[in-house]
Amino acid sequence: MDWDTPLVLTRSLTFEISGEGKLIAGAALSRGFRELPFDALPILAKFAPGATPQSVYSDLRGTWEVSREGFAQAVQGLLARSLLLPFTAGRAAVPAYPAGSFSSSPTLPGHHAMLADAVRIMTYQAAIRSACRDKVVLEVGAGSGILSIFAAQAGARQVIAVEQLEIAELAEEMFRANRCDDVVELFRGNSRDLELDEPVDVIIHEIFGSDPFVENLLPALGDAQERFLRPGGQLLPHRLEVFCLGPEIRRGPQRDKTLAQAEAHSRFLKKLGMVFPKLLPVVIT
Ligand SMILES: C[S@@+](CC[C@H](N)C(=O)[O-])C[C@H]1O[C@@H](n2cnc3c(N)ncnc32)[C@H](O)[C@@H]1O
Repeated sequence: MDWDTPLVLTRSLTFEISGEGKLIAGAALSRGFRELPFDALPILAKFAPGATPQSVYSDLRGTWEVSREGFAQAVQGLLARSLLLPFTAGRAAVPAYPAGSFSSSPTLPGHHAMLADAVRIMTYQAAIRSACRDKVVLEVGAGSGILSIFAAQAGARQVIAVEQLEIAELAEEMFRANRCDDVVELFRGNSRDLELDEPVDVIIHEIFGSDPFVENLLPALGDAQERFLRPGGQLLPHRLEVFCLGPEIRRGPQRDKTLAQAEAHSRFLKKLGMVFPKLLPVVIT
């Protein structure tokens, strides 16, 4: 292990406690949520501001009996799960994906379907056209890059496109092919790990799944709005109408998870000032 290269804790880290009382963790770039030993927590906490493994090890050794080999193994495991990221010039860096990896990505057919959805595409295009001229625009979740291209074509001064998965590679090709790579800059990673020097005028996004909250829309946009949007800037879209049918979940871990998510969503709704007029309570018995 390289003991002197700084690493940082990803800000997209999410924890859950399983029905069996185990700590489960994952992050935007992790391949799935998996159990995390509780003693990984002090290590993660020490890396939160960005630090070298050497300095974290020296620090922990004062209060904790930990061997150098055991510590190195733990750090390598956290890096492999993308819970720790390389920290270069004060920013979290995401390693480039191998060339061509997006073409085998399981999400590619989903992007084809989204690009073929004419109502979705044209509605976004019209809204972006009227909002982005001469503006600095951030797109959270660029996918194939289509919305960032619309922003560039609408006359945006600068577009920052953020994408966490391999599909970022396609976005990069799309920006070149559509001759807007001089205006659009791609950041590979999760928006929570992005740092910007200047605030943006407009944030555009389409990070909905068939469940509108599945891509962590509320915390991701809450963070982007708080850290990147200038006062008076525009979040596009800024309003969702969510229609729910009440499922009945009688027991099991899914019940606890649904309740916890419902609570977290309502807290974020207030914080974001977003309106969800058709949100019906989900009935859980
Ligand atoms: C539903 S797709 C939409 C892609 C594209 N904007 C479009 O309209 O076709 C959402 C994309 O956002 C990415 N994503 C979701 N949340 C993100 C975040 N917080 N930071 C970076 N990428 C994110 C996902 O990986 C996915 O590729």
